[in-house]
Amino acid sequence: MEYIKLKNTDLQVSRIIGGGCPLGGHGWGVTQDEELKKAIKIAVENGVNCFDTADTYGLGKSEILLGETISNFKREDIILATKFGVRVENGKTFYDNTSEWIEKAVVKSLKRLNTEYIDLYQIHYRDGKTPIGEIVKKLEELKKKGYIRYFGLSNIKKDELEELNKYLKETNKKNPFVTFQEEYSLAHRNNESYLKNIIEKCEMSLLTWGSLGQGILTGKYDLKTHFDSSDRRSREIYINFHGDKLKKNLEIVEVLKEIAKNLNTTPTAVAIRFILDYFKDSAALVGFKNSNQILGSIEASKIKLDANYLNILKEVSK
Ligand SMILES: NC(=O)c1ccc[n+]([C@@H]2O[C@H](COP(=O)([O-])OP(=O)(O)OC[C@H]3O[C@@H](n4cnc5c(N)ncnc54)[C@H](OP(=O)(O)O)[C@@H]3O)[C@@H](O)[C@H]2O)c1
Repeated sequence: MEYIKLKNTDLQVSRIIGGGCPLGGHGWGVTQDEELKKAIKIAVENGVNCFDTADTYGLGKSEILLGETISNFKREDIILATKFGVRVENGKTFYDNTSEWIEKAVVKSLKRLNTEYIDLYQIHYRDGKTPIGEIVKKLEELKKKGYIRYFGLSNIKKDELEELNKYLKETNKKNPFVTFQEEYSLAHRNNESYLKNIIEKCEMSLLTWGSLGQGILTGKYDLKTHFDSSDRRSREIYINFHGDKLKKNLEIVEVLKEIAKNLNTTPTAVAIRFILDYFKDSAALVGFKNSNQILGSIEASKIKLDANYLNILKEVSK
């Protein structure tokens, strides 16, 4: 396994991070708790030392499952990343970045994760109203209390980044956010220059989500793929599995399969490797539902892609 030190931290994270979305067993198809717990243990035994979750994944279940399993290891050997800012109440979902909510959310996450501190606490989404200065103040307070060690950003739009930069300039502060979490994969490269720019200029490490395009890049799906309504990929907004985008993704998959065959590996490993090689200061978050899946993703740390393969992949995914 390869590791990187997240910028401006002492957190040395595995470049393959266990993604906690499917752990919640809600909206991503069928999962089994015992198998998930086994998969988390196997991930750690194979070098994955960091897991990413959110208070909303499985309406809290992802954090609980992670907390229960991680208690089998020394706490200081594991890096726990979670998120706040999305609330689900009475079946309604809305964003909330207010200090009042952050205080409540962190206490609930600590309890569910069964831990005294969160290593990386990320804003899941901005709420469109709470000023960034207010959020930073609250997060710094949580740091002082020892609830969290570092904080990071996720899904930040251009204007929200401008607001942050303006705030930093006015207050003469260094950027206190250490990571930037965003969707990126061979199926989603349209934000590539935006991400490059942020990582270079704003001194943050990149954490990519949807690194396997929600599963399409693994090579196991085709044009006949059908998800039942309990799996959110059945909905058209999950564009990777619908219409022209699905066709385009399957062209990428054909190339992944060819390269994987030459390297004696899998499309999954090649797809993840592409991210790690393209963004040197990054780690790929990868969702998993069982031990074989996380082990399959870990294979990416054992292969190399030469410039020729990288160019072929860039060409087919443009
Ligand atoms: N910040 C945000 O807003 C945000 C948003 C989304 C995700 N995330 C984070 O990023 C993580 C990764 O994203 P993601 O989970 O949405 O998607 P992903 O990693 O692109 O895809 C994960 C899915 O691919 C399939 N899979 C994984 N490994 C496989 C393997 N070796 N062989 C075959 N199939 C495999 C599994 O689903 P099937 O078996 O059902 O195909 C799995 O659920 C999340 O878990 C979460 O921690 C963050």
